[in-house]
This record gives sequence, C-alpha cells and structure tokens, in this order.
Amino acid sequence: MTTVTGPSGASMAEVPEASAAGSAADPVAPALSDLRPLTRWPRLTSAIPADPEVERRVAEIVAQLTLEEKVGQMIQPELAELTHEDLREYGIGSALNGAGIWPGDKRHATVEDWVDAIDGFWTAAEEHWKDRPFRIPFMWATDAVHGHNNVHGATIFPHNIGLGAAGDPDLVRRIGAATAREVAATGMDWIFAPTVTTPRDRHWGRYYEGYGEDPTLVHAYGRAMVEGLQGDGVALRTDEKVLATLKHWIADGGTENGGDRGTARCSEDVLRDIHAQGFLAGISAGAQSVMVSFSSWSNEANYDHSPHTGEPYNDKVHGSRYLLTDVLKDALGFDGVVISDWDAHAEVAGCSAGDAGYAINAGLDVLMISGRDAWQSVHRTTVQYVRDGVVPLARIDDAVSRVLRVKMRAGLWEKPRPRERALARAATSVVGCAEHRTLSREAARKSLVLLKNTPGTLPLSRTARVLVTGSGADDLSKQCGGWTLTWQGDGLDHADLPGGVTLADAVRAIVGSERCTVDPALVHADPSDFDVAVVVMGEDSYAEMRGTLKPWRSLGYADLKLSYARDVEVLRLLKSAGLPAVGVFFTGRPLYCTEEINLSDAFVAAWLPGPYAEGITDVLFAPAEGAPAYDFQGRLPSSWPRTRDSAAVNRVPPHLPDYRVPEQETPPEGRHTPLFPVGHGLSLHDPVPDTGPLPLDVLRQAPPPPPADGPLRILDAAGSPYRLRIGGHNTWSRVDLSLSGPTRCLIVHADPVPAETGTGLRLRFAGYPAFVYAESPTGTPEDLRGHLEAGAHVRFRVRVLEPPSAPLYLACHDDYPAQPGVNLAPSLREATPGEWTSVSVPLTTLSVAGMDLAHVDVPFMLYTEGTVLLEAADIGWSVP
Ligand code: BGC
Repeated sequence: MTTVTGPSGASMAEVPEASAAGSAADPVAPALSDLRPLTRWPRLTSAIPADPEVERRVAEIVAQLTLEEKVGQMIQPELAELTHEDLREYGIGSALNGAGIWPGDKRHATVEDWVDAIDGFWTAAEEHWKDRPFRIPFMWATDAVHGHNNVHGATIFPHNIGLGAAGDPDLVRRIGAATAREVAATGMDWIFAPTVTTPRDRHWGRYYEGYGEDPTLVHAYGRAMVEGLQGDGVALRTDEKVLATLKHWIADGGTENGGDRGTARCSEDVLRDIHAQGFLAGISAGAQSVMVSFSSWSNEANYDHSPHTGEPYNDKVHGSRYLLTDVLKDALGFDGVVISDWDAHAEVAGCSAGDAGYAINAGLDVLMISGRDAWQSVHRTTVQYVRDGVVPLARIDDAVSRVLRVKMRAGLWEKPRPRERALARAATSVVGCAEHRTLSREAARKSLVLLKNTPGTLPLSRTARVLVTGSGADDLSKQCGGWTLTWQGDGLDHADLPGGVTLADAVRAIVGSERCTVDPALVHADPSDFDVAVVVMGEDSYAEMRGTLKPWRSLGYADLKLSYARDVEVLRLLKSAGLPAVGVFFTGRPLYCTEEINLSDAFVAAWLPGPYAEGITDVLFAPAEGAPAYDFQGRLPSSWPRTRDSAAVNRVPPHLPDYRVPEQETPPEGRHTPLFPVGHGLSLHDPVPDTGPLPLDVLRQAPPPPPADGPLRILDAAGSPYRLRIGGHNTWSRVDLSLSGPTRCLIVHADPVPAETGTGLRLRFAGYPAFVYAESPTGTPEDLRGHLEAGAHVRFRVRVLEPPSAPLYLACHDDYPAQPGVNLAPSLREATPGEWTSVSVPLTTLSVAGMDLAHVDVPFMLYTEGTVLLEAADIGWSVP
C-alpha cells in the first residue's frame, strides 16, 4: 500500500498496488475495466465490515424471492404516487417523501401525522409477506439535509456551507446524531445526506449543500457526519440511528460553469482528489448508501459504448458502468446500496421514464422514481429484461442482496413497527426539542465569518439604539435557504418554523422594542435616531435548478436582483447619514460584494444559518452580565471573489502533480486572486490594519445596443425563428415542439391550431410544474436592452378555454422557470372564455421583476404548476 497525501499533509487514502477491479461482461455494456487505470482508486475498509452471518441470511432470502419481488425491492416510489395496495402487491423495498411533499399534502403535518403515515405504509408492506416463511421489512427515506427539514416543527440546522465555516467536525457529528434522532422519531430509517460534494463554481445553485471548496474539509466532515448519523455497526441497529447516504456521486460540484446536472470535464485524478474525498471518508466511516449525481463526467474512461455502433454512448454518471460498478463497487469496495436520484435513470441514453435497463446494468441498485406509471413501468420492463437476458439475473441478485444487507445492518428485522419504536413513542419531545435547537444556535454562532471590523464597531452595546434594515432583516426564507419545509424554501413565516427567530426578532429581544426599529427597505426610519444599523442582506431562497445562474450572469450580489441592489442603496444612505453599519450577509455562496463591505463598518458572512438568529446576536452583541462571551470562530470554507466574474477561485491542491486546471477554473492570479482566501476570518480582538477601502471591480457590462427599430418575432403566420419547447416536472426534461403535429411531454400537451393570424398553439397544462418557451436556436443570449429603451412590450393573442387554476407566469428566462416572472392568471381569469384577446406586458414590468435584458436567451415563456387550457398565437415583442 502507498499513501496519498492530502493538501494539508494529512493522509487521505490508501492506494492498492494492483487493480482490485473486474466486472462480468453482459450483453448490454461490455466491461472495459481492463483498459482503465483502477489502481488510481484506493481499496477502502468500512467501519461496518461484511458479516458472514448477515451474508448467509441475505443469501437465504434472496434464494426464495420471485423475480418480481426482487425487482420490487429495487423500486423506490414517492409518497404521493404510492398506495397501500401497491405495497401489498409489489413487495416494494422502500419509499421516500420528496422535498415539499407531506402526508395528506399538509404543509404543517404534525409529527403524529408523519408517524401514522410511515407506520401505515410499513404495515401495508408487511402484508405482502404474510404467506411466506420470511419477511422483508420496508424502509422509508427522506432528505434531511439540514435537520429533518421536510417536517414541520423539526430542528433546522445551518446549511452545510455554514458548517464548513465552523471548521468543527465534532459539531458536525453532534448535528448528525441529533438529526438521526429526529428522523428516527418520525419512524423513518434512511436519509439522503450528507451531501459531500466539493463545490467549485459559484454559479451552481447547490453550492451551499456542500461544506466548501477544500477537499480536505469535505473529507473530515464526510466522516464526522456519517458517524453522527449512523454510529458504528452496533449503534446503527438501535432506534437512535438512521442510514446515511453520500451524495451525489461524483463531481456534481465540478461541472462546467457550475451547471446543475452539467458535465464535469476533468482528469480522473481530479475526480479522486477533489470530488471523491467526502465519499472516500464517508464509505470508510461505514455509510450504507451512495446517491448518484444527475451530472456527467466527460472523460474517455467513462464512456460505455453503444451496443449497436460501438460508439461512445453515455457520459451521464447514472449510465456509467465504470463509475458505478468498476470504481465505486469493485475498486473502492463499497458494498451498500447505490441509489439513483429523482427520476434520473430517464436521462440516461438508452433509458426512458419507464425503462431503466441500461442504468441497472451500469450498477444502480435502487431506483428513485416519482411517477406511479413510471415506477410500475420500470418494474415491468426490468422483469422482462431479465427474462430476455438483457439484464443478467446476477445483476439483480447483487442489487437485492445490497438492499437486504443494508436493511439487516440497520436492524430492521428486529425493529418493531414505526409507531412502536422507542423514539417514535416520544416523538413530540424529540422533534424540535430545546436541546437540538440550542445545538443549531451553537452551529449558527460558530459558522459566522467576520470579514471586517473597524475598531469600535463590534461587539455592539446591549443598550444601543439599533436600526435593523436590509432585505433580509426579517426574512426566514433568506435565513434558512432552500430545502426548508418546502423544496425551494419560499415564503417561510413564523407559523412554518416554530421557535423561528429572524435577525430582527433577535436584536429586538436584546435591546428591547423601544430601542429597535425594523425597516427592511429603509423607507420610514430616520438614521439620526439610532446609534448603529444592522444591515441584513441576503439571497432569496433557492434549491437545485432555481439557484443556478447561467454562465454569463454576474456573480455580484447587487447585480442579481433589484431588491438586492436596494440593499446597497440603503448602505449608501446610511453612510451619507453618518450612521455606523454592520453588514450581515445570508448567502449560499461567496458572491462579489466589495462595495457592500466597504460601506459597512463591520461585515459578517452568515451563510444560511437557519431559523434561530440568536446564534448571530450571541456574537454581534457584548455578552449580558454573567453570560459567556463569544468570539467569531468561523473561517472561510471557500475563497471569496475579488470580481463579479470570478465564478471559480478555488485553491488548487498543490499535491497534484498532474492537476490540469479545468477551463472554467482560471488560475488564481490577477483579478481572480481571491479577495479573501480559504481559512480567512477575523476575531473580535484581532488588530485590524487600516488599509482603506478594498478595490472595487471596475469591469462594467458592454454599453446597451441602440434602441430596437422593429418587433421581435416569436411565433406568427410564418412560423418561428426560435426553438419552441415544452417540458417540466418530473425530470425537467425538455421536448422540441412541432408546429405540424401534436407534441406530448407527460404534463404539457401542445397542438398547432388555426388562429386569426395563422398558426397558434393549443396548450394544456395538467397541474404539475410545466412550461412552454421559445429559446434562441444557438442557445446564446442576446442583448435586448435596446428594446427596453424603445418601450417594447411582450405581447400575444390568447383564447382561454379553461382558466388557470394557479399562477401562470410570463417570463423571459429559463434560469429557473418563471423566476422572475409576471403572473397573468388574474387577467386571464377575467377574459371571456373562448374569445381571442390580447395580452401585452411592458418590458419595464419584467425588468422591474428582475429580468436581465442584457442576456436574453428565452424571450418568451409560460409557466404554471396548475391546470389551464388555452390557445396562444401571434407571439412577439412589439415596439410602439
Ligand atoms: C435531489 C436529491 C434529493 C432527491 C429526493 C433530487 O432532486 O437531487 O438530492 O435527495 O431529489 O428529494
């Protein structure tokens, strides 16, 4: 064995002298492992090693299962698309609740509701086995990525990026243990955490789900979180622990331009030494499952070859036999469950929503599938593939054995029904208990990174008169981020987060209502009435997709939205009024905000600290008499950008001799040298050199083109110069729309219809998130600011046949559908049914909503999550 040394000199992994790999060939994908340098990968030793008795029992059960039952163990449907009858019939192995899906569709479902729901499914699943000499317990999975975040009343912890700043593996271990208790108390067995990505590009909307850009940190934390969640092999069998999932294998944080579900273009050494570190540590710590990444790895070694042409075929990790079987299972020796991400099998070439054969052959053991028709179809087609010899029975037996092994290691045969489990019987005193919330407050406090403190500013006096302002002053969504009760974390209020305290609440609690004024946009308060202002800035909440910014978007906070730019205005107003300002920044990623820092007397990067803002005031204010005095402990887990175009200013690990800087990772020099490097962070008593203001990024956007002198055609009698597409839930896949016949995409149907002015489109939206849009054929955005200046409107003719049941947004971006957008539903509901009418929305309205007219790649989009039937025609941007 040789040892690979990590960036800090720590031993990261053991590398075997010879390849440990080798995969049996099958009819679909020939094994190429003999061509691949698997010696690059270490053979890991798990803290939960193989147990001969478990292996014997697993083999005994597998030998008695029907093929249908085996495949049933591999299918994981979603709560909303699964009935008790299904469980009795199929012998389903596990289920999940997706983000923002609750029992009875109740956002505030109680802990008892959750236990009842899980217990009900479990009991129905048991009935499948009632006439057999053995049983296979069912298990429930959930995303508990910062506490048990889908459950009303549960403790919410800071998102991972903040934990990364805290630099405290023991804290992470304790958070894992607390999360495990809360999850177990709702009768669940398995969670989809920790995310051990190594995020490298700030465009990525999931940046904050990772601990930071430094693989050494991710390595240490991956281990600690798994230990906290699962404990050792003995603890895992108790009611106190849950199964952990390392996600998303592999390089989800290394995609080009930070694209969500994008492509990582890097060498295999970079894959191992930057993107695999959390997995290596987590697997060694005994993690029992690994979730595959939606993304692709573009590297010759990764391509399977088409069985028909011999050409390179799939670069999606979900279709990669090399990454799933050869590396993860064979070389690393991972013997747990490899689970797919939400409907991700459908994105693999050769598969579809109802057919996962190719991806199963690549190495998937459990398929997470949201739609009822889809999971039933995958069940059917997989059984058939085995009968036809397309999927080897040995592959299915391997998958089922892994599922059973993990269930046995979790003690599921010994555990009573969910409602009878020890913690579930005391659930209301476990979920959201004071001890766990205190731990979350400690984590928030430790995660704060002090970037500036002009002498005399912090700590604040407890008798100061404080103005709390800025867009994040009183906003639980900005404080908590995505994956909080809902998927995107929108519109969270105090009723959603019991015990939740905004920063405004926390300041008020210290200085008293009479000394505290909360005025987020600074429209009422007079700065001269105060001693200090706390200016709370923050990104609006987002999760995957919505948070991802197109490569050409600025990464300057104030450039991103008008409401964010207002925060800078507020800081300028305070500066001119002479009121000292303490900037507090809620963010999922380091963003360029040098002007905000310069305008502040003290500045704190607070990440996404969660709902208990007392953790922030613990350090912002001097301690109360006799209370402990805290200092800032957080240090940057990722480097902080100097310029608005520094998407990736990562530290390049010096130990990698053949590290090739991917195209998107500009070497850190000049304008890309970090403003503050990884590890930076001040303490209250550090001497602060007075170096004057930090250098502003003076690079400006190109000047706007001259005003438009004609309309922009999108769809008219002559057709469309754009690429018309429909798509949406559940895979967010997109389909080109035909103007000569029907186009179907599960949830949105489009048919060409005759309209007054030629071709129109009949659109039926079925009640799930879905969109129709026009995209520039090259995918390159156009600078259309001239149209704004010329007073253009987005306009089209519309005939409403069935009115919208939910907001219907007009938008001109697909960064994330309809964000920002203008809701047309109220006016469409007023239109006379069946009659053509005009819709006309000034570009100024869209611009105020936050549309970036300098980069328009989608000049027209309709998006809804509800139902509607309408016809649209004569679509364009008109210039008066
Ligand atoms: C995410 C996963 C998550 C899964 C289930 C997916 O969209 O990528 O991280 O575990 O949904 O909610």
